[in-house]
Amino acid sequence: MEKKFSMGVIGLGMGINMLPVNNRASNCIRVTQIAGIPAQMPMMQKLQQEYGLERITVNYMDMIEDPDIDIIGVFSPDPLHYEQCKAALEAGKHVICTKPMVVSLEQAKSLVQLVDEKGVKFLVGQTMRYEPQFAALRTLFDSGDLGNVFMGEAHYVHDMRPVYEATPWRGEMPQDLVYGGLSHPVDAMRWFFGDVEEVHAMGNDSALLVALSGRPYGDMCNYMVNLKFKNGIIARCFGAFGIVEPPMPMMGINLYGTKGTAVAEFTDFLGGKVKVVFDKYEIKKPFESCYPPETEGAFGHGRTSLRYLDHFSKCLLDDVEPQPSVREGAKTIATCAAAYESMKTGKIVKV
Ligand SMILES: NC(=O)c1ccc[n+]([C@@H]2O[C@H](COP(=O)([O-])OP(=O)(O)OC[C@H]3O[C@@H](n4cnc5c(N)ncnc54)[C@H](O)[C@@H]3O)[C@@H](O)[C@H]2O)c1
Repeated sequence: MEKKFSMGVIGLGMGINMLPVNNRASNCIRVTQIAGIPAQMPMMQKLQQEYGLERITVNYMDMIEDPDIDIIGVFSPDPLHYEQCKAALEAGKHVICTKPMVVSLEQAKSLVQLVDEKGVKFLVGQTMRYEPQFAALRTLFDSGDLGNVFMGEAHYVHDMRPVYEATPWRGEMPQDLVYGGLSHPVDAMRWFFGDVEEVHAMGNDSALLVALSGRPYGDMCNYMVNLKFKNGIIARCFGAFGIVEPPMPMMGINLYGTKGTAVAEFTDFLGGKVKVVFDKYEIKKPFESCYPPETEGAFGHGRTSLRYLDHFSKCLLDDVEPQPSVREGAKTIATCAAAYESMKTGKIVKV
């Protein structure tokens, strides 16, 4: 019989999306334990019944110290990822960590070293890579039909005010949106174009994001970032979070090639599209393919999460490196850190 891997999940917002893997016969991962905060006990009891969990706890170390657990899923507030990933890796567990992997370059380097030392698998749950319209764009890119792609753009725009109400830690800790938000488009561009050579970024604060405590949020919440890749490709990443929700897709990736230009876009709960114009045709009306809304699970990311869990399952069974790996995750964090430095200094920063 195929080996099964037991998973313990820390954090029960986005982390809830892990549980339906228990109903997926083709996946070798089973969630057997979850860790939340004390106020979540009644919810955890319900989940225990529904998914046949072996343990529910308010102390995540119970799962990390348990020899029956093979994988730790880290879905806690961003500033807690590092200490929890580190503890899990030190205990020899495989790790799936939601984005942002960590919130500083030093933390990222330390996790790369630990994964290398322990020889375990580490996946960063970058959802953009696992959403159908962006995966379709990747297939188109790999086919060569766009020709030589020389330029790209990616964006994530989201009025975070309602999200702050639902998840107050974002205002209180607070969430650093250079890592917590901008990491989405930065990782998306890195996914297509590889290693970044230099970054020039600007950021400002709209003063729209104020924590429930009344405390203003951080120092900047909107960012424009220009990237130059080692292969000469240039790209622009746009992250805007202290905004009135704009009438445009929440996330997007544009690729500009010598044989065609493609635009992929997506909004939570509304689905996505890929539009392509090929230079070889006289009529320049775009081909369009539509991707229906996915609404299951927390933030509507249920299916996307199962896609990356399926990928991780294969990586465990075939002993291959998950994508994005800890190293890929660290490069995205390094690019975000360079963007931060550029915003503060006004200079172009090497990654
Ligand atoms: N597209 C995506 O990949 C995506 C989407 C949403 C959230 N996220 C990430 O998922 C992580 C969790 O965010 P979320 O939106 O699910 O938040 P959330 O508040 O809904 O969930 C966080 C969970 O962490 C646990 N927790 C532990 N200590 C806590 C504390 N001090 N305060 C609050 N909760 C605590 C709780 O179980 C809580 O349910 C974050 O890192 C966030 O950036 C990723």
